[in-house]
Amino acid sequence: MNIGILNSGGDCPGLNAVIEGAVGAAARQGWTVYGFYDGFEGLLSEPDDPRYEILTPESCRNIRSMGGTILGTVNKGNFAIKVGVGQKGKIEDSVLAKTKATVERLHIEALIVVGGDGSQSTALLLSEIGLPVVGVPKTIDNDLEATDVTFGFNSAVEVVTEAIDRLRTTACAHQRMMVVEVMGRHAGWIALQSGIAGSADVILIPEIPFELDNVIAAIKQRKAKGQREIIVVVSEGAMLANELVLIDGQTKGEVRLGGIGNVIAHKLEEATNIETRVCVLGHTQRGGSPCAYDRILGTRFGSHAIKLILEKQFSNMVALKGTEIVSVPIEVAVKTLNLVDPNCQLVQTARDLGVCFGDNK
Ligand code: F6P
Repeated sequence: MNIGILNSGGDCPGLNAVIEGAVGAAARQGWTVYGFYDGFEGLLSEPDDPRYEILTPESCRNIRSMGGTILGTVNKGNFAIKVGVGQKGKIEDSVLAKTKATVERLHIEALIVVGGDGSQSTALLLSEIGLPVVGVPKTIDNDLEATDVTFGFNSAVEVVTEAIDRLRTTACAHQRMMVVEVMGRHAGWIALQSGIAGSADVILIPEIPFELDNVIAAIKQRKAKGQREIIVVVSEGAMLANELVLIDGQTKGEVRLGGIGNVIAHKLEEATNIETRVCVLGHTQRGGSPCAYDRILGTRFGSHAIKLILEKQFSNMVALKGTEIVSVPIEVAVKTLNLVDPNCQLVQTARDLGVCFGDNK
């Protein structure tokens, strides 16, 4: 049997681990795995322009430790159909026809799609043209409701935590405030977890509306107690006066978040008189080797995807529930975002540690 695998959407640490896990499990079944390049675009291969390679356990040995993806990925292009939360675009008929031709030429009987909610929605459309798909959830944002955790998230949290530790020592030396802007789109998981791990004074996330006056009061209180450094962690999707701060320009469809760190740093510096610097961690959170947790979760997801194909559980996605890998229908999986519940235990723990979320609690 021939199967395909591709990554789609933004990369994240652990993609190669999924590939290695899937290729290992497929080889044990005697299957051939086609790895398509640059997301779904690889499906538009021509006989004289093959945009894929055949993956073997030998060619994938120990790629689980590598960041990025050996197959490449794109978050735009011919198959990008996500326009916004809950809104979907369409794939051109000519693109679908070319995809079908590739699948038939290579005798691909199933396709593993490693991607976030937008890519999984595309995957479902491909199943409608007779290409059975199974999904593997991916994103550093940890914002897919169907799985307890997405791989890549813990690696991002490690990067941010280390950055906060480093920023603290220089902030302490100079008695400065550091505003650390982190990714996560509309979910505050990265800010919340790394903020707790890194002992942030203030954590601002999209799910908890904040007022700058509350933040200013909390910072002044800490300074009054003699604290030398102040660490503020802010999610790129946190809203100031109910508004998102955006980077100019858009990826196809989705808005690009970013810039809130600079906006609030300026206001906080003015109000507190504390010399302030901003650090936007950006894509450092997505780059580099996956942490051990993500290597393991990624390989487990990859090998379980093969199990779903064996059991003909198509249009399903692997997911982590507790300690077990399970399957969930993709259609259900893409419907709800996994956002931080402002009343969850983790937020409560942070409050117990004295973290200010900028609200009135
Ligand atoms: O979804 C992952 C993510 O890294 C978000 O946290 C961030 O907003 C976005 O992708 C950045 O996308 P790009 O790589 O297109 O700048």
